[in-house]
Amino acid sequence: MYLLILGANSDVAQAVARKFAAEEKANLYLASRDMEILHKRAQDITLRYEVQAVPLHFDAMDYASHAEFYASLNPKPDGVVVAFGYLGDQQEAQSDFQEARKIIETNYLGAVSILEVVAADFEKRGHGFIIGISSAAGERGRQSNYVYGSAKGALTVYLSGLRNRLHKKNITVITILPGFIHTKMIEHLTTPALLSSTPDNVAQDIHKAFIKKKNILYTGWYWRWIMLVIRMIPEPIFKMLNL
Ligand SMILES: NC(=O)c1ccc[n+]([C@@H]2O[C@H](COP(=O)([O-])OP(=O)(O)OC[C@H]3O[C@@H](n4cnc5c(N)ncnc54)[C@H](OP(=O)(O)O)[C@@H]3O)[C@@H](O)[C@H]2O)c1
Repeated sequence: MYLLILGANSDVAQAVARKFAAEEKANLYLASRDMEILHKRAQDITLRYEVQAVPLHFDAMDYASHAEFYASLNPKPDGVVVAFGYLGDQQEAQSDFQEARKIIETNYLGAVSILEVVAADFEKRGHGFIIGISSAAGERGRQSNYVYGSAKGALTVYLSGLRNRLHKKNITVITILPGFIHTKMIEHLTTPALLSSTPDNVAQDIHKAFIKKKNILYTGWYWRWIMLVIRMIPEPIFKMLNL
């Protein structure tokens, strides 16, 4: 199996790379922006798991490069994981549109741009799977992170439509909805210990979802129920909460 991981320097992506290398003997295309870190990680995975791990430069916001980037892959991947993401700063996004735009472009537009290229190829070959890492934050807008949340919400809806389209061609599209994960993305935040996962636990859940060909995965599992409750709170009450 050849697996393309986009945003491969993410802590979750690294754990997913290790999991698929260990369990599936997957050869990896590790694509991200910081090539220095990527080279080191690719070498480490190759040595540890005796699979190929190829570091590649990929920028989710450089839309014009996406078709050429994908065309350069030989052999073509059997599966793609979209892991890149940018939490950004909600306060800054409220006063500086450039920050809002970066959040929306990284988490949503970048994914649409590359996944349309991937989907066309998978559709033509009648083969492939797509794992998109969205967020539980996309399930309902909250004052503390609604720009990020709205971009992830758009990504979740996009993945749902893509799944609907590609199902007929036997292509699995899995939407991952994590809650808090201990990674560099949220290291500046204090999150409730009981509700926070590790990248390795999330990678394990993602691998299980891949085996079971799930449509939607909440990770940790309790986020499914937390978000159910959060979605059910009536708007007149929800707007008064400090979330
Ligand atoms: N951590 C959480 O609590 C949490 C919760 C819910 C959902 N998520 C989502 O889960 C995914 C993985 O998160 P994480 O916590 O593992 O992230 P992370 O460790 O903060 O890493 C994010 C990675 O995204 C890459 N990236 C950012 N902008 C990019 C761009 N324009 N092009 C290509 N790569 C880009 C960066 O790669 P370079 O270093 O190469 O620039 C960075 O290493 C993200 O989509 C995130 O939104 C995370």
